[in-house]
Amino acid sequence: MAVALLAAACTACAAGGAALQPASDRVEGLLARMTLDEKIGQLGVYAAADDATGANPLPLARLRADRQLDEIRAGRIGALFNGAGTARKREAQRAAVQASRLGIPLLFAADVIHGYCTVFPVPLAEAAAWDPALAERTARAAAVEAAADGVRWTFAPMVDITRDARWGRGVEGAGEDVLLGSRLAAARVRGFQGPDLSRPDALLATAKHFVAYGAAEGGLDYNGADVSERTVREVYLPPFRAAVDAGAGAVMTAFNTIAGVPVMADPRWVRGVLRGEWGFGGLVVSDYTADAELVAHGVAADDRAAAKLAFRAGNDLSMQSGLYRDHLAALVRSGEVPMADVDAAVRRVLATKERLGLFDDPMRGLDAERRCTDRPDHVALAREAAVRSIVLLRNEGELLPLAASRRRIALIGPFSRGPQDLHGPWTLFPGPTPPVSLEDGLRAALGPDAVLDVVRGSDVQSPLRGGIGAAVAAARRADVVLLAIGEGEALSGEARSRSVPEIPKAQRDLAEAVAATGRPVVVLLRTGRALALEGAVRDAQAIVVTWFLGSQTGHAVADVLLGRAAPGGRLPVSFPRTAGQAPLYYAHRPTGRPQPEDDPDAFYKARFLDAPREPLYPFGHGLGYGRIRYEDLRLDSATLEGEGTLEVRARLRNSGARTMREVPQLYVRGRVAAVSRPVRELKDFRSVDVAPGQAVEVVFTLRRDDLAYLGPDLRPVVEPGDYDVWVAPSAEAGLHGRFRLVR
Ligand code: GLC
Repeated sequence: MAVALLAAACTACAAGGAALQPASDRVEGLLARMTLDEKIGQLGVYAAADDATGANPLPLARLRADRQLDEIRAGRIGALFNGAGTARKREAQRAAVQASRLGIPLLFAADVIHGYCTVFPVPLAEAAAWDPALAERTARAAAVEAAADGVRWTFAPMVDITRDARWGRGVEGAGEDVLLGSRLAAARVRGFQGPDLSRPDALLATAKHFVAYGAAEGGLDYNGADVSERTVREVYLPPFRAAVDAGAGAVMTAFNTIAGVPVMADPRWVRGVLRGEWGFGGLVVSDYTADAELVAHGVAADDRAAAKLAFRAGNDLSMQSGLYRDHLAALVRSGEVPMADVDAAVRRVLATKERLGLFDDPMRGLDAERRCTDRPDHVALAREAAVRSIVLLRNEGELLPLAASRRRIALIGPFSRGPQDLHGPWTLFPGPTPPVSLEDGLRAALGPDAVLDVVRGSDVQSPLRGGIGAAVAAARRADVVLLAIGEGEALSGEARSRSVPEIPKAQRDLAEAVAATGRPVVVLLRTGRALALEGAVRDAQAIVVTWFLGSQTGHAVADVLLGRAAPGGRLPVSFPRTAGQAPLYYAHRPTGRPQPEDDPDAFYKARFLDAPREPLYPFGHGLGYGRIRYEDLRLDSATLEGEGTLEVRARLRNSGARTMREVPQLYVRGRVAAVSRPVRELKDFRSVDVAPGQAVEVVFTLRRDDLAYLGPDLRPVVEPGDYDVWVAPSAEAGLHGRFRLVR
């Protein structure tokens, strides 16, 4: 149960990940025959000439397809990514295998983040299911589809912990919590890679962005992270350790600095922690031109100096910049970069290609055009995952599920109809079948006597002439309003930080006007982050977080709204009262002046003048269609001793009329420690179905290792003393107990 804590010095160097292994004779034989230029060629990763994804700021003078083929024939490219189809990949692979001197195959990569042809919910949405097995299944399905298209390496999972909603990339990860993030990181690695990398449907996984990218100051993408080594080790490293321990074959280093030093140039993190403490034997690839950006950071005078810093910090592969191609040979010849280090990096690349079976079958997956077919099992999985990702925040008067008597429905908002903004960011290779819109999903689900009025009402970020008038008229004619509002894809993802993460004003005005009609309103919130909900949106009778749900959006939302499925999601991020509360997360330290729970107005306490410290909806929160009461917390002892265990039990009783999937969470707090401990820390969670009128007992087991934290010397320590424990439906509620750790 314990999340791997990261000691300053490694005792048992668990060789996580692609553990350090002796290379095969084939790899050693190849290496012995390679020229320095050919070795360096294997360390270059480039966007394919036909990359049309727009995922990166492609250089104006990028290589045309014919020039790229020349580079491949000359042995100067080791991997290509985000190429469009198999035809070009086939041509490139033939050039590598048949025309280059040593015939070393290319490795084809892509940003397969949340699906390939079939698009699953964005990772933050899927995190709301709190279901590692589900995450593993969707990653596996994505791998099968990508590998069938010749892709064998994905730049995923993104495992950055996110605690500042201003940062746009939280959408790609698993939210604010270390335990949930770690379990999902491992699950996604297992899913992408499958049981054996040599299988044709295996996708090499990349834990990214190493490390503390999500701690960007102010939530401003690419900004420095001014976090302590303690915070890096307690919060940002554990999900990477979980990914490495799950066997991740690669790690991608991040753009950011930590305390002023770019990770890209700092041997402490890759050489020190990843290789030295964890024994990681896989690939380390720099993020897109991040090595060249060391010049902009002001730590390298020119590209040559940047190449030297990046390689010596432990970056095996250089992505897109060409810095290793242009400068590494001279750095080796001058003795500034040891040839042995180049050999070690090339050995890892060749060993990875061998593990993937590329030497034995380089044309695998390239023998036919794209195979994007709507596989029924993947379509069903996309619908299941979308349903499981939906979080019901509020449901006054049990408005949901919609009663059949609610015949006239007004579906209002910029996300009501049409294929746009359904997949979410980082959807680069969707299949030909358009995603199911809210309108399509509802029309398919509603009976013939239902009436569905669809009115856009406003654009995503600007008013629509006559839009509010039409929306109000539709609302007045309706029994209930479904208000489809929030963020579009253009507001979410990389380089999309928002200084005020809230619903755009045009949509807020629409919401106020619709609410003023007095009709019951269900907010369907499309978003890639925790948005501040205010006014009529906050006060709507029902609020459903629908994130970006992918290919099956419309069917999944209709399933939940009409009661064919029950919402079971729980927030992986805290939802604020105001955007100004960012950064906002539950596992914060108490300060010396915590707000007393029984006196919210006490002054000279740690709170804002215009907002409390607490979120509007806490981490872990989510409603269902049942009514669960937590009761009868019991500890099997008042003490936990030595290597013993402590069982913590509670009963969940469903007094509602429908089965409820509940996610009981186990939180702990150390009352006194040498380092101030967070007010709560998630230590475990379950997913249980409770039938109407039934009660289910959940049992958690605590061990002393679960109470470990990094002491003042940054080494794991467990301190005897008093601990709080909760079995709870969220980070702000639950049954409270106490126990003493005796030694
Ligand atoms: C981008 C992203 C990274 C992605 C890479 C290749 O800049 O930071 O997550 O994998 O470039 O597209």
